[in-house]
Amino acid sequence: MIRWKKLWRLIPLLAVMTFLLTGCGSDTLSTLQPRGPVASEQLFLMKLSLFIMVFVVIVVFAIYLYVLVRYRQRKGQENTIPKQVEGNHVLEIIWTVIPILLLLVLAVPTVSYTFKHSTDYRKDKDAVHVKVTAHQFWWQFEYPDLGIATAQDLVIPQGKIIAFELISADVNHAFWVPSLGGKIDTNPGITNTLYLQADEIDTFKGKCAELCGASHALMDFKVVAKSQADFDAWAQKMKAPVAVAADVQKGEALFKENCMSCHAVSADGLGMGPNLNGFAERSMLAGVLEHTQDNAKKWITNPQAEKPGNKMPAFGGKLDDGQINDIVNYLWSLK
Ligand code: CUA
Repeated sequence: MIRWKKLWRLIPLLAVMTFLLTGCGSDTLSTLQPRGPVASEQLFLMKLSLFIMVFVVIVVFAIYLYVLVRYRQRKGQENTIPKQVEGNHVLEIIWTVIPILLLLVLAVPTVSYTFKHSTDYRKDKDAVHVKVTAHQFWWQFEYPDLGIATAQDLVIPQGKIIAFELISADVNHAFWVPSLGGKIDTNPGITNTLYLQADEIDTFKGKCAELCGASHALMDFKVVAKSQADFDAWAQKMKAPVAVAADVQKGEALFKENCMSCHAVSADGLGMGPNLNGFAERSMLAGVLEHTQDNAKKWITNPQAEKPGNKMPAFGGKLDDGQINDIVNYLWSLK
């Protein structure tokens, strides 16, 4: 009895936790707000299994409560063992056939969607082919058919199938865009495939969903869905030669001296760090910081303070504030 009293005391705590933890899902990082066909079909499967389970629970509890009340020991009733029944063909057939039917209702769409969602669209002429490489703790996106490489912001045309091919450059990560569907692991040395599609022009949150190190929780990215025309314009701009304005040439020289060994600034350049072509247009800085010049300065000065365990060295001791400022001005000219 004492033990039960202690458990009852936990109920307010559980209630508060429920409120707090459900608050975590209020943002767009939710599988319950699908914005593309893959996510919608996956949500349908979740709802289907939930409804079947709720149905089973309701039926079983209804029978249980009925039996409990109907056959309870009444006043004056003698405490005797009731008549023993062994085997009942009708009942046995009913409780075997109903679960089989329920499992079939669950299995047919689950299996068919599972096969559908693992379709490899990489050879499809209408699909956009994107090669994703996960790094500790950032994302590299290559468009082999377009000759473009970028990072952190995955730009896609709306309404088109995006055929992903995913690997990791170091440890295991997982690529996840909850509102579009997924997720899938990225492993070193193994190529996985996935396709997604965005129905709307919007920006969707993406996350790494596999514990991969100190900054796993900060390994975010964005999916920027544009109209086909805007996507084409973006691709053209990414491929155009980078024009350096006269007032940022000092910054460019410093960038070449200090940053170029890891960061490419070209249409399809790859390196140890993210390609920074078109950096001024990105939605976030390092995936998690607001895209402001102040944050860029903080990042260059001491990146470990913002994202522990990442591979970028700190330039705080190496460059003075003016030089870091020049580099930031140069980065903000990369449109
Ligand atoms: Cu990458 Cu977690």
